[in-house]
Amino acid sequence: MQVLFVTSEVTPIIKTGGLADVSAALPAALMGLGVDVRILLPCYPQVIKALKDLQIIADFFEKPPSGFDNFPPSRLLMGALPSGIPLYLLDCPEMYLRGGGPYQDEYGVDWPDNPNRFGLLSKVAALLGSAESPLGWKPDVVHCNDWQSGLAPAYLQYVQDPSPCVMTIHNIAYQGSFPSSVMPELGLPWDSFKPDGVEFFGKMSFLKAGLFYAAHITTVSPTYAKEIQTEAQGLGLEGLLAHRKKHLTGILNGIDTDAWNPASDTHLAHAYCATNLSGKAANKAELQRQFGLYQDAEIPVFGMVGRLAQQKGVDLIIETAEKLINLPAQLVFLGSGDAELQRAVLLLAHNFPGRVAAYIGFDEDLSHLIEAGADIFLMPSRYEPCGLNQMYSQRYGTPPVVHATGGLIDTVIDCNTASMQNSTASGFVFKSMESASLLSAAKRAVTLYKDKQNWASLLQQCMKKDFGWEQSAKAYLQIYRNLAGKKAS
Ligand code: ADP
Ligand code: GLC
Repeated sequence: MQVLFVTSEVTPIIKTGGLADVSAALPAALMGLGVDVRILLPCYPQVIKALKDLQIIADFFEKPPSGFDNFPPSRLLMGALPSGIPLYLLDCPEMYLRGGGPYQDEYGVDWPDNPNRFGLLSKVAALLGSAESPLGWKPDVVHCNDWQSGLAPAYLQYVQDPSPCVMTIHNIAYQGSFPSSVMPELGLPWDSFKPDGVEFFGKMSFLKAGLFYAAHITTVSPTYAKEIQTEAQGLGLEGLLAHRKKHLTGILNGIDTDAWNPASDTHLAHAYCATNLSGKAANKAELQRQFGLYQDAEIPVFGMVGRLAQQKGVDLIIETAEKLINLPAQLVFLGSGDAELQRAVLLLAHNFPGRVAAYIGFDEDLSHLIEAGADIFLMPSRYEPCGLNQMYSQRYGTPPVVHATGGLIDTVIDCNTASMQNSTASGFVFKSMESASLLSAAKRAVTLYKDKQNWASLLQQCMKKDFGWEQSAKAYLQIYRNLAGKKAS
């Protein structure tokens, strides 16, 4: 089985969120199942910094393939991830060699040529999945992820001998919708600009195109697969998804259990495991020290890591913060994003020194320190396709407080008498998206935290849960086999 995995970010090279972690861990798990999986990624400056000795494997600078005339010159380089997964790097200096991030400039403004940047990524994915592939390697399946590669299934309609496509939705809120005027630049025929095609409410939508043309659609948790078929959460795409529901599967993300292992985490000064939690206490002291919180081993510390976006419900934490710290507790934030939320979080830290602390920015070391050093993790997301942090936190013995939505429902079991008795409890779930509900779940957590014996049992239960990729990777492989018409060997 040969699979081309198309993505716009991958850990440890370039990461803005969970897509990067999944793009590293899922291919590695597939490789473990014997799949020949290769990743296609734009060649950002971060790639050149991280990887040496890249080889040129296809050069379109002199002679672009047919249909590439509207795009600037490009070529394909080859490298590999630390896991050994081969990386095809789409090198187009005019489009990808710039400061800022993969989607935005340093001020958080979307790059104006994003349709062209990710149009080219999609176009090259389709070329590699066609009879004209310059590589001498043709995938049985092209696996696209989110809107940035959503046009690949559309381009594949116009190539010879196209590979079938899987389209994975990691977050339906990011749709890649642009004015129809981009159609000619992207080299898409006007007859595809229709409801049964790439058109979506008068615009050209990358994600809609992917969902319409892909042979199979997946999303990252079973609950989110149901939610996106509803008006409340489908963001206009619910009709199409309900129509395609026979070809829509929710497959729960796993986590990289090597990278996220408190017993061997190189980001931490103190290792620990379920049978010896003394390192966790040392990480808590370190967290309080680094963030300037009062050194207090007894007080519960709430931690939050994530994009400061409406999705993550940070506003709810901000609203509840004063009541949370009066439980009493401490509160630590790590995140960046929305300017207003950043300001509000910093203001809290300013108003409650020693009790609330925040770091605005992206910092891998600190994210591991919070997962390890906090006592309780806060993830009150409004919606959450899957979510990785709540799984990391359980593995680190930091039970999460979560809103009952999407993948959070599928990965956290609410702590109550029954779930404590049958040893399945792993966090605190609240149903209505209101600060009073968040507060009451947080209070339940703090009450149990004070009951040393039961808290210790809860931590054991969290830490022994299996969040590995194996089952989910097998589910993807089954979909690939069905599409490629291959039997299990
Ligand atoms: P999403 O993909 O919606 O952002 P996930 O929970 O799936 O949410 O994944 C987020 C990933 O990004 C996690 O690995 C998390 O640790 C990481 N992350 C988010 N914000 C930061 C930050 N400010 N610093 C470090 N890591 C972060
Ligand atoms: C998205 C979602 C998140 C998911 C991640 C990886 O960014 O917001 O819930 O875990 O993708 O699939």
